[in-house]
Amino acid sequence: MSDSTTTEGKLQLVVNRGEAGDERGQDVTYEIPRTKGMVVLDAVLYAQGHTDQDLAVRWNCKAGKCGSCAAEINGYPRLLCKTRVEDLPTDQPVRVQPMQTFPRIKDLVTDVSWNYEMNKQIPPFTPREGAEWRWQQRDVERAQEMRKCIECFLCQDVCHVIRYQRSNKPKFAGPRFFVRSAGLDYHPMDTVDRAEFLKNEAGIEMCNVTRCCTDVCPEHIQITDNAIIPAKERIVDKYHDPIKKMLRGK
Ligand code: SF4
Ligand code: SF4
Ligand code: FES
Repeated sequence: MSDSTTTEGKLQLVVNRGEAGDERGQDVTYEIPRTKGMVVLDAVLYAQGHTDQDLAVRWNCKAGKCGSCAAEINGYPRLLCKTRVEDLPTDQPVRVQPMQTFPRIKDLVTDVSWNYEMNKQIPPFTPREGAEWRWQQRDVERAQEMRKCIECFLCQDVCHVIRYQRSNKPKFAGPRFFVRSAGLDYHPMDTVDRAEFLKNEAGIEMCNVTRCCTDVCPEHIQITDNAIIPAKERIVDKYHDPIKKMLRGK
């Protein structure tokens, strides 16, 4: 009977490596002993521990909860620590590359600091003063879905609005921040209207609801249906309703 330490043949792991500024990088192939239940992070750490000690990879929890190990596996944005080798095709090597939307720092580690700058621009939670903090359970659930985000930025990585036109970054916040804004909006005690921010600063109207962000979210947040579409509807209602426009005189 096999256990987690029993080897089951070899795995070919191809890691796209490079220094800062080298976005193309170069593929390096490692032969890794395949063990039952191993995840791709295990394979990368084996290569780091046994062959290339300077192979850079970011990780913390190895439990799918810190969001640090986001990368692309066989071209698909995923968490290295949540992707089991046995779930990947066996007739080809496992290919790992850094998230392509963000600049490389080294090997699999990217500079995601732009996201933290974007986050600072969201109008903060501003509770009603003097009101009693009583919530319906359905309100808790609505806000809580948005709070499950682990900031892996896989949704930012896959979103074509910033992936293929990096110059859009300053004017398009990306799905992670539509989720964060929704989490604040859905708090029953919050008093801020973020529609203007979403329209003018966060560029939500550039989103064409492809749902790619929802597909890659490891927390299964319904980003498009529960964060983006309701916000877009509010914006249409507030800024593009023909009767309201007529009454406003513009
Ligand atoms: S649904 Fe919108 S935010 Fe999500 S990936 Fe598509 S364009 Fe980007
Ligand atoms: S919304 Fe999902 S995919 Fe996007 S950063 Fe949060 S956890 Fe990651
Ligand atoms: S190491 Fe924390 S999510 Fe993968």
